[in-house]
Amino acid sequence: MKSELTALLATRREGYGMPRAFYNTDALYPEEVARIWQGGWLFAGFTIEIPKPGDYFTLNVDNTPVLVMRDDAGDVRAFHNVCRHRGTMLCRQESGHVRAIICPYHSWTYSRQGDLIACHGMQEELDKSKLGLKPIHTEVVAGLIYVSLSNSPPAFAPLRDEFGPAAKPQGFDRAKIAKIIDYEVPSNWKLVWENNRECFHCVRCHPQYFKANYDVYEEEFASDAVKKQMAASLARTQSKWAAQGIEITHTHGGLATFPDPDRNRWFAADRTMLAEGFDTESMDGKRVAPLMGDYADQDVGVLRMRSMPNFWVHASCDHAVAARLLPAGPRMTRVRGYWLVKEDAVEGKDYDLEKMLPFWHLTNEQDWDICKWQQKGVDSIGYEPGPLSTRKEYNVDAFIRWYLQEMRGGGVAAPQLRIA
Ligand code: FES
Ligand SMILES: [Fe+2]
Repeated sequence: MKSELTALLATRREGYGMPRAFYNTDALYPEEVARIWQGGWLFAGFTIEIPKPGDYFTLNVDNTPVLVMRDDAGDVRAFHNVCRHRGTMLCRQESGHVRAIICPYHSWTYSRQGDLIACHGMQEELDKSKLGLKPIHTEVVAGLIYVSLSNSPPAFAPLRDEFGPAAKPQGFDRAKIAKIIDYEVPSNWKLVWENNRECFHCVRCHPQYFKANYDVYEEEFASDAVKKQMAASLARTQSKWAAQGIEITHTHGGLATFPDPDRNRWFAADRTMLAEGFDTESMDGKRVAPLMGDYADQDVGVLRMRSMPNFWVHASCDHAVAARLLPAGPRMTRVRGYWLVKEDAVEGKDYDLEKMLPFWHLTNEQDWDICKWQQKGVDSIGYEPGPLSTRKEYNVDAFIRWYLQEMRGGGVAAPQLRIA
């Protein structure tokens, strides 16, 4: 299998998309799960989802159930959501609260620290200290919870150093979740990322999104009128950003470069301006909620953060919209969309979901629809990878190169080699 995999990885022609086998083969998918999804760091959720000891949420990384819980000391921990007796999945709800975790099969009972505290009928014959829940590496930065299924995860400090300061003014760690929407995207997870990494499609497919952002205008190719507008937007916000101690990191049109496999950049945070007339990413550009976090002014542009292989967020002055990807087979990606607002904002008074949701819910659904149809085309024997635009799809190329690097074992993720 190893040589087959090496041979397959070599079939990608530089500057082109990837061949069909990358998007639908049952053989390649487990290798991706092992090397990428069980190798690196995954965004799991927000600390605000589990404010009190005993609060938990669950997620499935392909077939691996994960339990994320606030322990008695108030720390966030993650465990394999699997009983140490005969392996039953323990917590079956998406979220909840427990005093202790009691296995629904034979009642083995675990504390909120993951220790086995009772196993009636077997107490005498067991050393309970050896049968606690299996821990999963967990890190928290600025209210974001990351987990790694690897035994020896890559260093988290570089992400922490970048996301910590960048995310601080947004106040993710003290926000409120206004809405969660789960999407099932009948598409390979890589098609979802490739779609996310270019805005070539935005004018045609995202009539709302493209008006609010300068993503479609790569600077050197933008018209003088657009350049003028970008300069005006930058001037309007630049001085205010400086006054609020917010760093400007992406001051021109087009998407910021991400990922960057040549520099091991599997995460990135940057802040960019919104188009003229847009105070936030809403349908009419007007604010849809009170200012979030530390913001004292609405002209803060958009904070964008992403990490491979499963997280991105667009955070405006008044609300933030995040996405968490999880693979569920070669042709299925589960995406959770989160809408966050200021911690004390009250629905119906301070914000209205009917006004807040459409901008990103529509954009999301437009993208998932594209991915669905692309999967159908890519599945066909008639599919042949086409050339990528150097002007517009440089990040698709970067994503593919990052992916190939990870699959070859040369990137950030520490692969758990399963290949004979
Ligand atoms: S499988 Fe959990 S107690 Fe038996
Ligand atoms: Fe899109």
